Amino acid sequence: MPADPYHVWLSEIMLQQTVVATVIPYYAKFLAAYPTIESLGVAPVDDVLGHWAGLGYYARARNLHACARAVAALGTFPQTIEGLRALPGIGPYTANAVGAIAFGLPVLPVDGNIERVAARVFAINAPLPGGKKEIGAAAARLLEDRAARAAPGDFAQALFDLGATICTPQSPDCGRCPWHGHCAAQARGIAATLPVRAKKPERPHRNGVVYVLMDAQDDVWLLRRPPRGLLGGMLALPETPPVAAKWRDAGEVRHVFTHFSLTLNVQAARRKALPADALRAPAATAPLPSVMRKALDAGRRALDDAA
Ligand code: ADE
Repeated sequence: MPADPYHVWLSEIMLQQTVVATVIPYYAKFLAAYPTIESLGVAPVDDVLGHWAGLGYYARARNLHACARAVAALGTFPQTIEGLRALPGIGPYTANAVGAIAFGLPVLPVDGNIERVAARVFAINAPLPGGKKEIGAAAARLLEDRAARAAPGDFAQALFDLGATICTPQSPDCGRCPWHGHCAAQARGIAATLPVRAKKPERPHRNGVVYVLMDAQDDVWLLRRPPRGLLGGMLALPETPPVAAKWRDAGEVRHVFTHFSLTLNVQAARRKALPADALRAPAATAPLPSVMRKALDAGRRALDDAA
């Protein structure tokens, strides 16, 4: 049965952030809040970012919103790869995933799982990321199979699942693999060594400070980050002391972003009231990105211990 393109698109965008188990509750909450792509398109972008909070990489949530508006303006999802590619935030992978799964187009969305399966089936040892093209071209050859072309969405999802459960990165379970007799890497005993990865340069590390200022109602002082750049447009804790107060050291939290890792020292203080014009939210439920949630919780613990 063909899948709803809105559902496929939404899940694929979320699955670019993290694993299926983590995505499921977010996906359910999103569909409850925005049952149609039109409802997502007309929602205020800050509400959408709030529902996304915790999934990371917030530019993706902005593109999600922009894409929903574009589709709503068109009246429907385009049903060609070119049309899909023209939408905000839709690259070759997502266009092929929606094309294959929702519209049955004969294309293969090559994610990390399918890349690994293809590198092994064809025993390609070109190192990633440079070898991406060669492996992608080989993966596309899998679609020459008639049965695969007859059900490209099922074929792609079968390969995702093969990669996630049997053709796993560290210890592929080749004995249980339905392609056991057709895999060049398995025949040569090198499946676990593929795909080869070029050594990555080490992630730089940064340090910072954030300030947790709470009032007697357990509201916390927040600010809205500028729309572009790290955590663009998200709520965040201030990085300079917002007022003079008796700051208490609440320890450190660490977070790993795509391009760097971060250690934040957390300073916490409580006052009876926040200034009238301060942006605030209940500390327990403020929709914050993960790194800010970790820092806020460290600050709350320090204030609880001090109380
Ligand atoms: N990972 C990304 N897309 C997926 C899908 N449609 N099914 C299973 N795993 C996936």
